[in-house]
Amino acid sequence: MKRKPLVAGNWKMYQTIAEARQLVPELVRGLQEIMGVQKVICPPFTALLAVKALLEGTDIGLGAQDLFWELEGAYTGEISPKMVAELCQYVIIGHSERRTYFGETDESVNRKVKAALEAGLIPIVCVGETLEENEKGLTEIVLQRQVKVGLQGIDLKLDEQERVPLLIAYEPVWAIGTGKAASGEFANNVVREVIRPELASLFGDQVAQATRVLYGGSVKAKNAGEFFGQTEIDGALVGGASLKADEFVGIVAAAAEG
Ligand code: 13P
Repeated sequence: MKRKPLVAGNWKMYQTIAEARQLVPELVRGLQEIMGVQKVICPPFTALLAVKALLEGTDIGLGAQDLFWELEGAYTGEISPKMVAELCQYVIIGHSERRTYFGETDESVNRKVKAALEAGLIPIVCVGETLEENEKGLTEIVLQRQVKVGLQGIDLKLDEQERVPLLIAYEPVWAIGTGKAASGEFANNVVREVIRPELASLFGDQVAQATRVLYGGSVKAKNAGEFFGQTEIDGALVGGASLKADEFVGIVAAAAEG
C-alpha cells in the first residue's frame, strides 16, 4: 500500500501576522519545487487568514492547532469546527501540550475528532507516551488507550481514492522540543507493533494500512531521512524546525526522497 508522505509544520504559539508575512513567502519559494509530498502549515488562529492568502495558488495546505467540538454557542474564547473549516483543510487534535497544560483528555480528543470529521476537516490526531510512561514500560498500553478512546465511535472508511480522512502523529512526549529525537527504528517499531494493530482492531486491516502515521519530536533537516526511510512512517509533524524556512524545506525535501 502506497501512502503519500505528508509533512506538517506546527508553529505552536509562535509567529504574529507580521512575522508570518515574512516567513511564508520564504517557505513557498523553497517548497514549490518539491513534488510527491503533501505540505501543511499550522499557524496560530490569529495568523490563519493572512497565511491562507499567502498560500493562494500553491500546493501547501493549511491547518489549525486545535478546535472546540460545538458548532457555535456561548463558549467564550473557543473556535468551532465550521470556523476552522472556512480557512483550513487540516486540524491538529490532542497535541501533548494540550493534554499536559490544558486538561485535554482522550474523551475530549474523541469529541473533537468527531466534530472535525463532520466539518470535513482532516484531523491530525496526536498520541505519545511521556518519559515516565516510557521508562515504566507503559508505551504500548498508553498508545493503545489513546488511539482506542480517541477514535471510538468513529466510522473510519476509505474514500473513493482509497484514502483515509485522518492522520495519526506519533509524538513521544520525551522527544518534543528536547533535541532528543526517538530513533527511526524505535518509532517505526511502535507504529508497526502498536499503532497500526490498534487501528486494525478498530477499523480493519485496509484502513489501518492506508492511514498515514507521522512521527514528531525533534525532527530537523539533518535527522529527517532517518524517519522517512522507515517503512511505517509516512511523514512528520515538525515543531521548532518548521519556523526556519531552510530547515522545513530540508525536511520536506528529505520526505520527497523517502
Ligand atoms: P519539536 O519538533 O519542536 O520537537 O516539536 C514537535 C511537536 O510537538 C510537533 O507537534
